[in-house]
Amino acid sequence: MARFHRLRVAAVDRLTDDSVALALTVPPDLREEYRYAPGQHLTLRRRADGEDIRRTYSICSPAPEGGGPGTLRVGVRLVEGGAFSTYALKEIGVGDELEVMTPAGRFTLPPAPGRYAAIVGGSGITPVLSIVSTLLERESGARFCLIRSDRTAASTMFLEEVADLKDRYPDRFQLVPVLSREEQQAGLPSGRLDQDRLTALLPALLPVGQVDGWFLCGPYGLVEGAERALRGLGVMRSRIHEEIFHVDTGAPAAPTASAPAHSTVTALLDGRGGTWPVREGESLLETVLRNRPEAPYACKGGVCGTCRAFLVSGEVRMNRNFALESEETEAGYVLACQSHPVTERVELDFDR
Ligand code: FES
Repeated sequence: MARFHRLRVAAVDRLTDDSVALALTVPPDLREEYRYAPGQHLTLRRRADGEDIRRTYSICSPAPEGGGPGTLRVGVRLVEGGAFSTYALKEIGVGDELEVMTPAGRFTLPPAPGRYAAIVGGSGITPVLSIVSTLLERESGARFCLIRSDRTAASTMFLEEVADLKDRYPDRFQLVPVLSREEQQAGLPSGRLDQDRLTALLPALLPVGQVDGWFLCGPYGLVEGAERALRGLGVMRSRIHEEIFHVDTGAPAAPTASAPAHSTVTALLDGRGGTWPVREGESLLETVLRNRPEAPYACKGGVCGTCRAFLVSGEVRMNRNFALESEETEAGYVLACQSHPVTERVELDFDR
């Protein structure tokens, strides 16, 4: 079960004009709880003016082998008007304490031999940096191709860290940078990485059919375009892993189904169960939170996957789902923040 602890900020490193990396110290007694798989994220919480503001940020550092980490490093990019990112870039300093949830997320790659590739946009590099650096360090039989899209060189996060990987693993790491608003001296011409461009580009870069895992991370438009390009090139859906950072407002929602006039949700959370009536229009997460404020969530937008629960019985309608893979929904998992009851009784298990 995900929990918050207060962790101290050990360093604030400026990456670009609008992004920083925050390093957080994990005391020895909490290290096991913060053990993470490369690609996972942390939810940071800030309480201001009576509001509970939560944001998820991916861990960028390689996952340590053996025990849990002594330090966690996350990348934070400023979002226009963003309540947490503005605070992170303008106010957080060394020595401050932050409320940090234990790691979560299934956009991960346990190190294994094979050929892997990623297509990332902007801050989508953050979890992939942890995935690539852990993989190349631990697995000599692994190769990785990173295709990254950024606006300009100056706005590119982790430029040095990625260049360093290229120096350390010249035979096993292939880097393909694309800038959308600036010409590069060497490399590909500028422009957006959309479906058509990727369809033409990918077969020229690597043997697409031999890639064991594709990792797509960034804004909704880029991830959707990359998935369509890969599917068009014959890549199986099971080899494609996705994490979306921002969802455009035009992103599709599931069709609505009629809701029962009265319904209840029964939820098991941290070994304790309860049954409560669902108020009209509210999500199952909101019902559970009114009664169990410790229920896990971060984005409430169907993107981060923190509110994942197993649907034990009943039926729900999910508005949006950008977090769960199809195998997870087929196995019975739902996002509580997006779920509304279709049957009069619904039973969720957050512990499974
Ligand atoms: S809280 Fe992020 S998907 Fe539900």
